[in-house]
Amino acid sequence: MSSPSEQGSRGARPLVDSFGRIIRKVRISVTERCNFRCVYCMPVAPEWFERERVLRYEEIARVVRILASMGVSKVKLTGGEPLMRRDVERLISMMAGIPGVDTISMTTNGFFLEEKARALRGAGLQAVTVSLPSLDAARFRAITGVDALDRVLRGIDAAISAGLSPVKVNSTIVRGLNEDEAPRLAEFAREKGIFVRFIEFMPFDGKGSWRMDRVVSWREIYESLRGKFDLVPLPRERGSTSMNYAFRGSAGGVGFIASITSPFCEDCERIRLTADGRIVPCMFSPKEFDLRSALRGGAPDEEIERLIREAVAAKDGGVKYMIRSGNLPAVIRPMYTLGG
Ligand code: 5AD
Ligand code: SF4
Repeated sequence: MSSPSEQGSRGARPLVDSFGRIIRKVRISVTERCNFRCVYCMPVAPEWFERERVLRYEEIARVVRILASMGVSKVKLTGGEPLMRRDVERLISMMAGIPGVDTISMTTNGFFLEEKARALRGAGLQAVTVSLPSLDAARFRAITGVDALDRVLRGIDAAISAGLSPVKVNSTIVRGLNEDEAPRLAEFAREKGIFVRFIEFMPFDGKGSWRMDRVVSWREIYESLRGKFDLVPLPRERGSTSMNYAFRGSAGGVGFIASITSPFCEDCERIRLTADGRIVPCMFSPKEFDLRSALRGGAPDEEIERLIREAVAAKDGGVKYMIRSGNLPAVIRPMYTLGG
């Protein structure tokens, strides 16, 4: 017998989009604020939401409870920088108590991990992904705007020793910025026994500097690693954003998030919730659905559920379909409002 969450539903009908994809994961941006200014993410002068527009923890937990009743079992917290939001442990423990939620993870820049890892683990966080665009201190600073490489490296160690698992590293690779980093980052992953995933540059930098010729394809990165590492392809997990390879003979490996040259849209299981309470069914689409007004207007759970179903029904087929149909918007929201 499978458990209700494996069946995809705990009572309500599962969330299925118009392409038959079942939604099992939600990425929640808990704040759009960040103490870093990564060049591929932040506009020159980011604008923050007015405070009262940002969902309260009780509101987020309510949405998660309703999503979980429809079969969403994996929650990832993102930002901006999620650890910029005060007492995020409280939200994690609220979510850990929701029936049907079986994994809570976080994507972070790692700056606050050294002091926070234990408390996060204690609250019920299972896994963490740390963004690490370079292992060179000066370049790290040039990319993120903050001189914090050592601190982030200590944060990664703290996450591993706190028992967060898996601990992963994500590196967005941009031509002219850090395209030579992959072998060094892979070596780092092998030393730590973790996975590093290379992300293709996506048009979400908020300043219009994205160009196709600045995208370093996953193939190119793979080629730069092939001679130096013995990589064993791993079967792709359903709904996974990355193609993964293990290091032969040691723990950890490398992965490729090829959102531009080989997108993973066919079995995408994900929707997103922005810090100000909008459902974004696909990050490559400008479509978004306002939940906050309903949450604050006294809507019953059934109404919230209906809005979520409406958002899921409107989920685009994916990057390939949008390019084919000419619907790839010229300007899409910057990454800091979505959290990757
Ligand atoms: N393209 C690809 N990845 C990006 N990230 C931020 N902006 C972009 C972009 N334009 C990644 C960061 C971080 C995650 C939250 O999103 O590297 O790992
Ligand atoms: Fe902050 Fe992450 Fe964006 Fe960098 S990529 S500016 S760490 S939200």
